[in-house]
Amino acid sequence: MALPDSFIQKLLDNNRIEDVVSGYVAMKRRGRNLVGLCPFHGEKTASFNLYPETNSFYCFGCGAGGDVVTFIKRIENLDYMDAVRFLADRAGMQMPENRRENDRDTRLRLRILEANREAARLYHQALYAPEGQMALEYYHSRGYTDATIKHFGLGFAPPGFDYLRNALRAKGFKDEELIAAFLLARGRSGGTYDVFRNRAMIPIIDIRGNVVGFGGRVLDDSKPKYINTESTLAFSKSRNLFALNFAKNTGRELNLCEGYMDVIAMHQAGFTNTVAALGTSFPEEQMQLIARYADRINLIFDADGAGQKATRRAIDNLRRTGLDVRVVTIPDGKDPDEFIRNKGADAFRLLLERSSNAIEYRLLEIGRTYDINTPDGKVKYMKEATALLARLESPVERDVYAGRLSQLLSVSKDAILQEIRYGERRQQRAGMKRRLPELMRQEQKELRQVNPEAVHYPRAAKAEESLLGTLLMHPDYIRTVRKELPCDNLVTAFNRELYERLLEREQQGLLVELAFLSADYDQDGMAYISRMVRDAQERTVSLEEAQRYASIIREEHKLKALKDPSNASDEDIQGILNTLRERKQ
Ligand code: GTP
Ligand code: MN
Repeated sequence: MALPDSFIQKLLDNNRIEDVVSGYVAMKRRGRNLVGLCPFHGEKTASFNLYPETNSFYCFGCGAGGDVVTFIKRIENLDYMDAVRFLADRAGMQMPENRRENDRDTRLRLRILEANREAARLYHQALYAPEGQMALEYYHSRGYTDATIKHFGLGFAPPGFDYLRNALRAKGFKDEELIAAFLLARGRSGGTYDVFRNRAMIPIIDIRGNVVGFGGRVLDDSKPKYINTESTLAFSKSRNLFALNFAKNTGRELNLCEGYMDVIAMHQAGFTNTVAALGTSFPEEQMQLIARYADRINLIFDADGAGQKATRRAIDNLRRTGLDVRVVTIPDGKDPDEFIRNKGADAFRLLLERSSNAIEYRLLEIGRTYDINTPDGKVKYMKEATALLARLESPVERDVYAGRLSQLLSVSKDAILQEIRYGERRQQRAGMKRRLPELMRQEQKELRQVNPEAVHYPRAAKAEESLLGTLLMHPDYIRTVRKELPCDNLVTAFNRELYERLLEREQQGLLVELAFLSADYDQDGMAYISRMVRDAQERTVSLEEAQRYASIIREEHKLKALKDPSNASDEDIQGILNTLRERKQ
């Protein structure tokens, strides 16, 4: 991992942690730091902290922590080099000359994108060739104009097993590249053939304008209705949204639909701020992606069972994004595409305006399961509804919905607010109970795995952590401390090694900073180290205090030797005896 320091330094300068992180998490300033909801575990109160000073983050909830590279590693699920590459890209920087041939993937990725672009062009041409007539009629029958077809680059994959293969081979693509692109598949006999045959083709374009994949729909009722590009080097379902390339610049409100066809119809009707999930699971990554481009999202799903399920899933995965969520239910189990075709854009606009928000939606849903005209049903409804409202953080919102419930149930608003508070306390207790063992386990696990000896030598480990955190904050202390504390005096191995590393960097005139450690430590190691830094940062530690930590460590080192006298020198033993004598006095 020999990236030059100068490069890393520039990379860090160009990727301030607060800028990078706020692309993923909504952060609020609190004093010198910023806080937000941790993207690495589910939470409702913000315990994720950014420290612009040290260019680092730390979550008090789950213990995640590190520098900006660690953050990207975790959130984008990349290894160290790819995370660095990602940040270099972000800052428009060139990676230093890469002599090794390990960027085979990068090259293949580029080939996949080229192949996809060619394929999209060929499919689009085929649509307007004689063999595409059926497909063109199909699009027209769904009400799509030629302008829409062109705008989305819609196309047609002709029947037959080698249309695309032959055309792309002629353009110099190798079968292996096309297989990696999910355009060709390999048959049992070892030959290759087109994945998409006799299908209406919808290119999926990412926000940078790359054709990253395709959805291919049958023209009739045969099965499967869709074949979609599966994950490739250039495409991940959970990190893309269909039509985000168009929708991303329309403002801070997005509509989310289930299908490609819905999105196309919506755009044609003027709702160009519409995207579709690529699949039915609405993973959190996708929802976070939406949160980068919007403050408010309208979920537009069918009113049928599947649509309701999808709605609930999406709402669940949207909770952490902090987006204002509204639910638009299309009557009669229609999808947006059909609704617009039958009723027109204005009718749809009305639906949008009347959209309820997520809480109202859930209240309605709960309402459907109880008969509030019976006393029993009323009590049960109230219990469940107040439990739901107890999860609301804003007192204003609570008040509003308590008011609605009060009207609906003819129960006083005070009684309802009271019930909400009970529910809240119950949930808090349950939450604490649930989280406590996990948090303790987490902490224990972290210690045990990262620095197993810390459990046996807590006092030493504590002093070491304080000292190391301090040195990372104040590298100028190293000069003095190194004279008073030899490396082998550190009691726990992890801290000893870290100390050695810091001294070495200082000796070589290199920068001593958290971010320069992320090449050498894994996620848990970085979390452990960044906790030291965070602790040191909370208060200003003087050189004298750092020296005091050093002396505690020396003392503990001697005591450790006493436990295992075979390792102790005469000098050590004398020191230990002195220490013990001092303690007795
Ligand atoms: P139309 O029925 O033509 O209106 O298509 P649609 O895009 O509205 O599709 P539908 O509502 O049936 O499904 C929503 C989305 O789920 C589609 O856009 C696809 O992404 C996905 N999907 C639907 N059917 C299949 C399938 O058979 N296989 C796969 N892999 N995905 C599907
Ligand atoms: Mn549909």
